[in-house]
Parts: sequence; C-alpha cells; structure tokens
Amino acid sequence: MASDIHDDEGFMKRRVAACARLDEQVGAKGDDPADRKAWFEQVYRSADDDPAAVPWADLAPKRVLLDWLEGHPGDGRAAIDIACGLGDNAEALSAAGWRTTAFDFAEDAIAWAKKRFVGSDVAYCVADLFDLPEAWRQEFDLVHECYTLQALDGALREAAFTAVASLVKPGGRLLVVTRVLPDSAAANGPPWPLMPAELSRFATLELEEESSLYYDVERPDGRIIPHARIQYRKRLPAAP
Ligand SMILES: C[S@@+](CC[C@H](N)C(=O)[O-])C[C@H]1O[C@@H](n2cnc3c(N)ncnc32)[C@H](O)[C@@H]1O
Repeated sequence: MASDIHDDEGFMKRRVAACARLDEQVGAKGDDPADRKAWFEQVYRSADDDPAAVPWADLAPKRVLLDWLEGHPGDGRAAIDIACGLGDNAEALSAAGWRTTAFDFAEDAIAWAKKRFVGSDVAYCVADLFDLPEAWRQEFDLVHECYTLQALDGALREAAFTAVASLVKPGGRLLVVTRVLPDSAAANGPPWPLMPAELSRFATLELEEESSLYYDVERPDGRIIPHARIQYRKRLPAAP
C-alpha cells in the first residue's frame, strides 16, 4: 500500500534525513503539551515546502479510506478530519460527497493544505483537539481520525480518546485508521501503535464497534507494519 513517492529515491533520502533530525528535537517524545505542539509546528515550518520533510505526508489519501468511501458516500452530510496535516484525506472525504471540515493545530499545515488545494470545498481551520470549538460538539455524521492517536503518548493520548468521541453525532460514525500492536507488546514511539485494550475505550464513550479491517503496510525499507481501520457508531440516546 505504498504510494508513488515511496519509489522516489531522492524523496526517500530526504525523508530519512528529516526523520533523523526531527527525532532529536525537544517534543519528539513525551506528553508535555507545549513541547509536543512546538515539535509538530516545527515539522511543518522547517520542511520549507518539501513534503519529504513531513514524516507522515503521503501526498495521497489512504487507500483504506478510499475503499471505505466507495460504500459510504456523504450525500451532503457533515464530516470532520481530525489533525488533517496536508489535507489529502480531507479532500477524499469531500470528493465522496461529505461536507468536510478539517483541522490541525499547526498553522503551517493548514496554510500548506489550502495552498495545495486551491478552491477546495473543504473548510480548513486551525484548531486544537484539546480545545475544540463548542459548536463542533456532537456535530458530525462522520469523524475521521488517521494517525493522530498513535502520534500521542501518555496523558495526551488519554485525553485524545474523549476529544475524538466528543465530535461524533449520536447515530454518527467514527472511522479510525491506525497502526496496531498486540496488548502485550512494547511500543517505542513515535508512533505508538494502538493496542486492542485502548481501542476498546471507545466503547466507554458511547461508540460501538461496527466493523474492522486489519491489514499490513509494507514500508520502503521492507518493514511490515500492522494496521487497522475500525468503524464505530455512536449510540442514540435511549427513548424516554
Ligand atoms: C502523524 S500526523 C497525521 C496527519 C494526518 N492525519 C495524516 O494522516 O496524514 C499527526 C497530526 O496531528 C496534528 N496534531 C497533533 N496534536 C494535535 C492537536 N492537539 N490538535 C490538532 N492537531 C494536532 C499534527 O500537527 C499532525 O499534523
């Protein structure tokens, strides 16, 4: 499931160099909110318009999202893409008929996404998952979360489950795309793949698992990385 950029040797060399540099910066690990935010902001700023320097930028929507969207057109319903980065997944949601909002707390990411997709129907905005606009609470028929939970550790990760769930309308869906590891495994992030026990936390937030797809992604260096795409639905309030 690699995209074309992974076949471009020059691109991959710049990516490896950027990852090594970024891994050494304050905020690359840990759960200090200010350090972590500054690190993400620095990723986009120091990339200087080169997507090779943004470790997660595929410049294409995730294949598993495109496959899911084939069977789930939006028909004008509201979707939100959490921590959208450079915007490819948000654009895929919009192209499938979802009225899409996409946010990231890195201003440079949002500016870059808008520059890439001039005239887009996506409402791109700067927002923090941990300080969401009140108007977004339980507002979305579809919440798409790709690679954000796995980019957070410790207390930030704990808080992220609640924040993600808060956006889903009763009866609406949450789609999570993430790396996964068995419960017993030790993760040496970033990223920190999600474990089944963590994913089941959504059940305590009114989100019932509807379906899941477990699959492997082969990295350019030959590593096989287990992933999952999991679909949840938020319970409707009980009838009085
Ligand atoms: C690993 S990247 C994934 C980006 C994108 N979802 C993708 O699949 O390519 C994680 C993203 O989360 C953003 N992010 C991290 N913490 C955030 C927060 N508290 N609020 C909003 N965005 C956040 C980062 O700026 C970064 O763009």
